[in-house]
Amino acid sequence: MSQGIVHMSYITASILFILSLGGLSRQDTARRGIYCGMVGMAIAILATVLSDKVTSYGIVIITLSMGGLIGARVAAKVEMTQMPELVAIMHSLVGLAAVLVGYASFLDHALLLTGVEKAIHSTEVFIGVLIGAVTFSGSVIAFGKLCGKIAGKPVLLPARHWLNLLLLVVSIGLGIQFVGTDSVDAGLVPLSIMTAIALIFGIHMVMAIGGADMPVVVSMLNSYSGWAAAATGFMLSNDLLIITGALVGSSGAILSYIMCRAMNRHFLSVIAGGFGSSGGEAADVEGEVQPIDIEETAKLLKEAKSIVIIPGYGMAVAQAQHTVYDITKLLVAKGKKVRFAIHPVAGRMPGHMNVLLAEAKVPYDIVFEMDEINDDFVDVDVSIVIGANDIVNPSALNDPNSPIAGMPVLECWKGETTIVMKRSMASGYAGVGNPLFVLENTRMLFGDANDRLQELLKALQG
Ligand code: TAP
Repeated sequence: MSQGIVHMSYITASILFILSLGGLSRQDTARRGIYCGMVGMAIAILATVLSDKVTSYGIVIITLSMGGLIGARVAAKVEMTQMPELVAIMHSLVGLAAVLVGYASFLDHALLLTGVEKAIHSTEVFIGVLIGAVTFSGSVIAFGKLCGKIAGKPVLLPARHWLNLLLLVVSIGLGIQFVGTDSVDAGLVPLSIMTAIALIFGIHMVMAIGGADMPVVVSMLNSYSGWAAAATGFMLSNDLLIITGALVGSSGAILSYIMCRAMNRHFLSVIAGGFGSSGGEAADVEGEVQPIDIEETAKLLKEAKSIVIIPGYGMAVAQAQHTVYDITKLLVAKGKKVRFAIHPVAGRMPGHMNVLLAEAKVPYDIVFEMDEINDDFVDVDVSIVIGANDIVNPSALNDPNSPIAGMPVLECWKGETTIVMKRSMASGYAGVGNPLFVLENTRMLFGDANDRLQELLKALQG
């Protein structure tokens, strides 16, 4: 395939990726967005594989089939609740690719280029490897934290800010040395030392971030993986990779900003880590829990006029979204006003709850964002919290020592009655006790969310 056709295909793919992002910004156009992305990616892969630059089809076919097979197997096996871990480990692969391409590109071009061209190429390689290594090690740690293999509590080294600053200054020094070298052997030394520093920096950065701030980490690493891909594009002189990387990098950065705003955090403070861990012990939760059974729950719902459903991570674990919608339809048919309240960091990935509700075909007009519904709780008769914990924790607002202090939450306790569905008194992702469970107007409905909701559905039908 001629270079002209390859370039045309890359432009078409880039436009499709932009349309894809546009589509994904709204629930009713998200499906179209996905299709645009899929077609764009198919065009991009075909144009690259069929371009004149490919010298060995054997290697391309073997690597594409290996990657395709592993990807398809993992995607088919992964549970919805494991998606954030999968995304994190995928980011690590983008980082690793940037590092490997950086080294290969350096070894390939080090002796061919001279003067300004060499300086520009060396800078591209150095920055690409730096971003790639931070993304790789940071994403591996994020993967460990998201799947519970590494504790969510922030690990704070003494003088960690000075340590980060030192690593940065040393990396800049190594960068200057690397750009100035004129042999492969001399260049490999600063490049390897910087790679080791960047790997340590990625580990240190994510280890220092507390459990409740993980949403920002996930979106931040998403952004880094985009910049790593863009850097790879510069090294390979591939326009499509530069455009796609920049799209992912900037959209990830915007998402990080949105996440920070939703959690009432400053981006730099989250990156610096250790939120909520330096101000003393969080207050213990004391008080009597009031359990409720299915019959009483059904009775409360039958008497209620205004009902709000608050889904959280536990709804995803129990896969209760379809039963929730069956109950919603029944209640709406009985003349009740039923709405869903979505916290921006509910679940384990951005938009997690929206995806589940869309899967169950819950209409968008009864799904409200936190800011749209929080003031209405005073007029709500019954709020049902389904497998949510941190996002309805009042200590975020009134305990300055809480790890989630300052994070806006859904203030369901302001309504008449709150029913909390969960299996035990265990804490949520942030590992902090929840005083909501012992409030006078809270009732606990213990058990797996889907099992209990199916029983509730039967009781409401009866
Ligand atoms: P969590 O605070 O994690 O609480 C979920 C609750 O669901 C748990 O307390 C658990 O209690 C319950 N649960 C689990 N399985 C259940 C089942 N089968 N049936 C019924 N209940 C079940 O979730 P949340 O309120 O959605 O808050 C999200 C948290 O995750 C925040 O801290 C957020 O910062 C963090 N986070 C979010 C993201 C994104 S981007 N959304 C990414 C990483 C981390 P039991 O064990 O007692 O049942």
